[in-house]
Amino acid sequence: MPDQPLSQDPQSIDDFSINESGNRPFADIAAKHLSRRQVLSGGLGMASLMLFGGAASSLLGNNAFAATSGKLGFSAVPVSQADTVVVPEGYSAQVMIPWGEPITGHFPAFSPANSADEQAMQIGTHHDGMHYFPIEGIHPWQGSSVDGLLVLNHEYMEPRLMHESARGQEIPAVGAPANADGSRDSEQIRKEMNAHGVSIVRIALDADGQWQVQRDPRNRRITGLTDMEFSGPLRGHAHMRTRFSPDGTRTRGTINNCSHGVTPWNTYLTCEENWWFYFHVDDRATMPASLLRYRVGASDPWRWHADAQARDEAIRFNLTPSAGTAEQDYRNEAHGFGYIVEIDPFDPQSTPIKRTHLGRFAHEGIVFAPAREGHPIVCYSGDDSAGEYIFKFVSRAPYHAATASGALLDNGTLYAARFAEDGSGEWLALVPGEHDLGDKNGFGTLQDILLNTRGAADIAGATPMDRPEWGAVDPGNGHVYFTLTNNASRTADQTDAANPRGPNYFGQIVRWREANDDHTSTRFAWALFVMAGPSHNSRDLNGNPLGEDNIFVSPDGLWFDADRRLWIQTDIAEGSTLRPPYAEFGNNAMLAADPDTGEIRRFMTGPIGQEITGCVSTPDQSTLFINVQHPGGSMTSAQQFAAGEFVSRWPDGGDSIPRSATLAIRRHDGGKVGGY
Ligand code: FEO
Ligand code: CA
Ligand code: CA
Repeated sequence: MPDQPLSQDPQSIDDFSINESGNRPFADIAAKHLSRRQVLSGGLGMASLMLFGGAASSLLGNNAFAATSGKLGFSAVPVSQADTVVVPEGYSAQVMIPWGEPITGHFPAFSPANSADEQAMQIGTHHDGMHYFPIEGIHPWQGSSVDGLLVLNHEYMEPRLMHESARGQEIPAVGAPANADGSRDSEQIRKEMNAHGVSIVRIALDADGQWQVQRDPRNRRITGLTDMEFSGPLRGHAHMRTRFSPDGTRTRGTINNCSHGVTPWNTYLTCEENWWFYFHVDDRATMPASLLRYRVGASDPWRWHADAQARDEAIRFNLTPSAGTAEQDYRNEAHGFGYIVEIDPFDPQSTPIKRTHLGRFAHEGIVFAPAREGHPIVCYSGDDSAGEYIFKFVSRAPYHAATASGALLDNGTLYAARFAEDGSGEWLALVPGEHDLGDKNGFGTLQDILLNTRGAADIAGATPMDRPEWGAVDPGNGHVYFTLTNNASRTADQTDAANPRGPNYFGQIVRWREANDDHTSTRFAWALFVMAGPSHNSRDLNGNPLGEDNIFVSPDGLWFDADRRLWIQTDIAEGSTLRPPYAEFGNNAMLAADPDTGEIRRFMTGPIGQEITGCVSTPDQSTLFINVQHPGGSMTSAQQFAAGEFVSRWPDGGDSIPRSATLAIRRHDGGKVGGY
């Protein structure tokens, strides 16, 4: 997302996403917050040693030795302000599948003048979470390293880049061309919807070490218009009923797909993050808590509801009641978003399924604990807004590899995390009758809780976090890591041990170990892995400040490779990039960390105004795929756009417009990316 924590830009979106619920932990912690001095000098999480005994010490900070990693076999690249990609010596980065690359249908070549129908045959825009599925289609992490299905999310779009008629107009990045009467062109809206969603594309490595798009019947675009089904407890619920689906079982499309997940049964999960700002309502005061708590209606930059032809697929984004019953209008349409959507990339006829038991919020992504035969499935998901929560889902039924399917995600228990000051943690079950949830406060049923997951977690007393982004599970020991990207809105008296800076401009990474190393436990021990920031305001695992080779801020993407290298991707809001207090960090970058020694090293830097996101390797680790999203972005002002002056023209250069794209990073010697 165009995160802009410090920007005065009126188009800033994430500034609006703030937990204003008066959540108990927010209110209770004022008297006991830790000083920044204590945090930066180490010492966090020591009480969890007592909770889980000495074995927990390996998880915690203060290893008290100078870190030298045996995992990071590359030389650090410097901070960069250049409009290009920089990788370490001995590496190359191939730009592939930029926005508009044809992948299906009659393979229309990219042009800014492409129609809405042509966009639906091309790669979408603003690439984000991504997985490489080996072509055998059996296992998500095992199989061919030269032939597979690349599946990627498209988070949002910049309408001004997508429509020829926008040229010469003063339009900001988070804005859209409009007709004189305020309505929007129907074809433009349809093209924008088709630029969203997910792309599935077969790719293969050629003899020259270049990845090439393959024409394959499994190539597919899933968009903001694709038919989808609900499953789980909210399927058919009264608040899911619309004119399109009077029985509350279906909707159209998935939008604002940020990060992703991969199931043990080889399907892809796409996560709906900032879906709330696609909706309009005339009077927010009339909305139920299940919309208000998500800030629905507070901002509506794309104005899809204002379709000049009033087509049903567009006016559904207006939640204002217009008929006598919910089955006759779209007052409930926004209840159909905020989910994790399961897609079978190997079956182009399959219908994507919104799995409602995983909760409804600003899902950044979802990550699974290793599946164990005969044990429940466990997965973790963060709600990326300021002061929101981290959740865990535990399936009711056990996992059996031979029969496992998405049905496992339809029945279980959803928990929200509480991080205590002493380094212990608790998973709070979000079910009626527990943690004060009940009829008295509007959470008498599981459906009430799932529809307003945030509100339920408020009452249960979960810990408001500094914008939870990606999670990652260490394949060696099962420890769970989450990025907390930043939170400029946290005040000094709202700090707590896990979120110790207020305001928090720089972000941190937290990690935890489930009690007894059992991911179904309701207790855990946690500690901060790193406090990001400049040298004078950061701390690594050993209590040392970050330095030239690894200063970074705003951690977002997070992924473990099979050798337990922890990849960290940054997302400084482009409105803040290259400005104080972010100037010294340059363009967004990717680093790698050793989870044992705590060493962190900058691996690559991206062009101007983008974020680095999406991270997955081939099974043999010879190619690492990452995404470069929104080069230039809102750093190109409305006035510069009108004058044709883009701050980034990556990747094509010249007088081209910037495009999001994927990078395939490889070593000249064919070795493991990041390793020795
Ligand atoms: Fe879309 Fe939270 O990053
Ligand atoms: Ca993200
Ligand atoms: Ca982000």
